[in-house]
Amino acid sequence: MAKDWTPSSWRSMPIEQVPDYPDPNALAETEKRLASFPPLVFAGEARKLTRALGEVAEGRAFLLQGGDCAESFAEHGADNIRDFFRAFLQMAVVLTFAASQPVVKIGRIGGQFAKPRSSGSETKDGKTLPSYRGDIINGIEFDEASRIPNPERQVMAYRQSAATMNLLRAFAQGGYANLDNVHQWMLGFVADSPEAERYRQLADRISETMNFMRAIGIDAESHPSLRETDFFTSHEALLLGYEEAFTRVDSTSGDWYATSGHMIWIGDRTRQEDHAHVEFCRGIKNPIGLKCGPSMEADGLLRLIDKLNPENKAGRLTLITRFGHEKVEAHLPKLIRAVEKEGRKVVWSCDPMHGNTITLNHYKTRPFDRILAEVQGFFDVHRAEGTHAGGIHIEMTGKDVTECTGGARPVLAEDLSDRYHTHCDPRLNANQALELAFLVAELLKKDQAANAPKQAANF
Ligand code: TRP
Ligand code: MN
Repeated sequence: MAKDWTPSSWRSMPIEQVPDYPDPNALAETEKRLASFPPLVFAGEARKLTRALGEVAEGRAFLLQGGDCAESFAEHGADNIRDFFRAFLQMAVVLTFAASQPVVKIGRIGGQFAKPRSSGSETKDGKTLPSYRGDIINGIEFDEASRIPNPERQVMAYRQSAATMNLLRAFAQGGYANLDNVHQWMLGFVADSPEAERYRQLADRISETMNFMRAIGIDAESHPSLRETDFFTSHEALLLGYEEAFTRVDSTSGDWYATSGHMIWIGDRTRQEDHAHVEFCRGIKNPIGLKCGPSMEADGLLRLIDKLNPENKAGRLTLITRFGHEKVEAHLPKLIRAVEKEGRKVVWSCDPMHGNTITLNHYKTRPFDRILAEVQGFFDVHRAEGTHAGGIHIEMTGKDVTECTGGARPVLAEDLSDRYHTHCDPRLNANQALELAFLVAELLKKDQAANAPKQAANF
């Protein structure tokens, strides 16, 4: 176990991004109640995910992580979850085929409620109120009462996460994720896309492969792995009181696990070495993510790796880089070289969303071209360094929203107001997300042509 660590040792450290709860007793009461609630995930699942990510770190698998910027109480419905999962699985099929490797599937879902903010307050029409910090903390409505942090929201977020995970588990294991279904949906997407010609070749090859497998007797009836998939949950571990309440000892290993989700990550704003968020995460055994923005330096990164993954276990730590499309080439190589030189085992994943946010017509948006350009830069750098471009981390929804501009059926600046529903950052809509998968598939194919074939992973 980590030295001098307890689930509450973070409380004596400096901390960023803490909501100002007006009634600390009510908060403590709620945290006590949460600590008595059943866990959302169990240790064995987190270990399985660490193993799967270990394969990514070793270059034998690819990571797809995606979902809402922020889940919301208002948008909690079966349709939203289903549509997200449907888009996500299609991406996974395309990437699996293109990479010829297993795709580790992790949603930003089932707990992604707390948001770090660049400013503690927000001013509109001369009125200043505390910033919205995610539905687990306060309300998005711009009035005084909504913006007061309310501990009861943590209970609501927990219950929503449980319901969301329940449905996702049913979808993942109960037949909805059947490869035949997902394949048909994907063909529908290609047929309707203005870029159909470009995507059809890959789609046809997947179809042929499916037909071949069926011909030789490999089908979903005889092979459960064709109708089931492992799907994991993740969120930013920002609200540490909540995380602490769900930190439990695993009786088989005696280790501490965060049971609020399978993987949790540390944000770019809360990754100070001697601060609370790093302290909390170092003591739990789950796979963890670390967001790395332009201010991350090589030596600071190595110190964080020492703290977060002292045993150098492959799969424990995923570095999620988010530099912006114009900065990735300047920032990523030095981090990769430092990590490689020290022999540290990490998963490299590209978040092409957070460094590419601009404002257009008063809307926060992200041009599809820039998102793609950052992913391309990420692949280029890894190819040049001889390292594995391990995965992508995106903000997306299964709905036809108009939040990011561009794409094959382009969302224009003047369309942004049509269906701009996000509670926080702009997300790729279902078509944009799938399109990105097809474009990443081309990059993966390019890498494959460049590399000797690697043995398929086994997990
Ligand atoms: N079980 C395999 C996997 O998860 C194959 C599979 C079944 C699959 N359904 C899927 C892959 C849906 C992607 C999407 O990889
Ligand atoms: Mn975001």
